Amino acid sequence: MTLRPFLLERFFAQYEFQPTLHLASSDCEALTMPELLGLASAEDLAVWNSMKFGYTETAGHPELRQLIAEGYEGINSAQVITAVPEEAIYLTMRALLKPGDTIVSTAPGYQSLYEIAVEIGCEVQKWLPQESPEGWHFNPSDLKLDGVKALVVNFPHNPTGAQPTEAEWAQVCDLARQSGCWLISDEMYRGLEPDANALKPAASAYAKGVSIAGLSKAYGLAGLRSGWVAAQDNELLAAIQSYKDYTTICASAPTERLSIIAMKSGELLRKRCRNIIATNLPVWDDFLARHTHVLSARPAKAGPICFPRWLAGDTSTFCERLVDEGGVMLLPSKVYEAGEDHFRVGLGRLNFTEALNRFEKYIRMNVS
Ligand SMILES: Cc1ncc(COP(=O)(O)O)c(C=O)c1O
Repeated sequence: MTLRPFLLERFFAQYEFQPTLHLASSDCEALTMPELLGLASAEDLAVWNSMKFGYTETAGHPELRQLIAEGYEGINSAQVITAVPEEAIYLTMRALLKPGDTIVSTAPGYQSLYEIAVEIGCEVQKWLPQESPEGWHFNPSDLKLDGVKALVVNFPHNPTGAQPTEAEWAQVCDLARQSGCWLISDEMYRGLEPDANALKPAASAYAKGVSIAGLSKAYGLAGLRSGWVAAQDNELLAAIQSYKDYTTICASAPTERLSIIAMKSGELLRKRCRNIIATNLPVWDDFLARHTHVLSARPAKAGPICFPRWLAGDTSTFCERLVDEGGVMLLPSKVYEAGEDHFRVGLGRLNFTEALNRFEKYIRMNVS
C-alpha cells in the first residue's frame, strides 16, 4: 500500500497562501513573536537570547515534558514524548498498528487518523455521527469494539465540532477498557471548550489511552510545530521513540524554548483563543439567521470549527468558485470524503467578520 494524498492538506496547499480570506481555518489567530516573548519571565528571555542551535534531547526538553505532564493527572514527564502534532499521529499509528489489525475511527475526520492505518494494512471501521439541527453527535452506544485493536477519536471534533458529554466520554473509555483496545485520542482542540469544560484526557482516563495534542490550535501557535504524545504505557512510548528516530529525531531548539514560554502561560493563551471564538460565534449565528434558505446550522459544541449543511448545490463546485471568484476560502466536505453537502467554517480568526462579509456579498450576488 502507498499513502493516498491527504485531501485536506492538498486543498489548503492550493489556496492557503493565496491572497484570499480564510473562513475555514482550524487554528486560532496566531500570536506574533513580540506577543509570545512578552509573556516570558526575565530568566526565560535570557535563555532564549543566548540559545544555542545544537541538537536537542530526543524525547523532548525535560522542562517542556514536565510542563506538559502537569496537564495530565497520573502522567509523569517520562511518559511524554514531544513531536510535531501531525508527526505524533504518524508515530503512534506506526508504533501500535500491524497489518490485519482493525481500528474504529471517528468519521468524517482528519485523514491521518485513519489513513496511516489503511496504509499499514489495517481494516478501518467508521464511528459515524448523527446530524441534527442541535449539532453533530457521536453516540457511544453505536460502538462495537470486539476484536478491535484501537479506537481512534478526536474531540472536540474536526470538522463537526462534536463533543461528548462527560458521561458519554466515560462510556467511551469504559467500552475501550472492556474490549481491551487502545484508545488513541486526538486532543488537538482540547482547551477550546466553552467555559474551558474539557474532558479528562485519554492518557489519564485509561491505562491504554494515548493523548495526542499540541500548541497549534488551542494556543495560537501553529507555526511552532510543537506537539506531543502522552501515555501510561512505557513499552508504547519506547516504540514511538524508536519511530521518531526515523522522522525528526528531536525537536527544533527554538521551538522547544518558545514552547516552554507558551506552556508557562498555557491558560492565558487558551483563554485568548476561546475569547476570539466567543466573539465570532454571535456574528456567525446572525449570519446563519439571515441565510436559512441556503444554510442549515450545525452548531459546534466545542472547538474552533463547525460543519454546516449547504442547501444550494454541491460544495466542491461552490467552494472552488467562491475561492476563485469571491476570494474566500471554505473547505468542502469532499476533502473529508464526506459527500458534497457540507463545508467547514473556522471561527478562530480575528478577521472572521471581514471574511464573512465577503462571503455574504458573494452569496447575495451569485446564489439565489
Ligand atoms: C484533529 C487534528 N489533529 C492533528 C492535526 C495536526 O496538527 P498540525 O497541523 O499542527 O500538525 C490537525 C490539524 O489540522 C487536526 O485537525
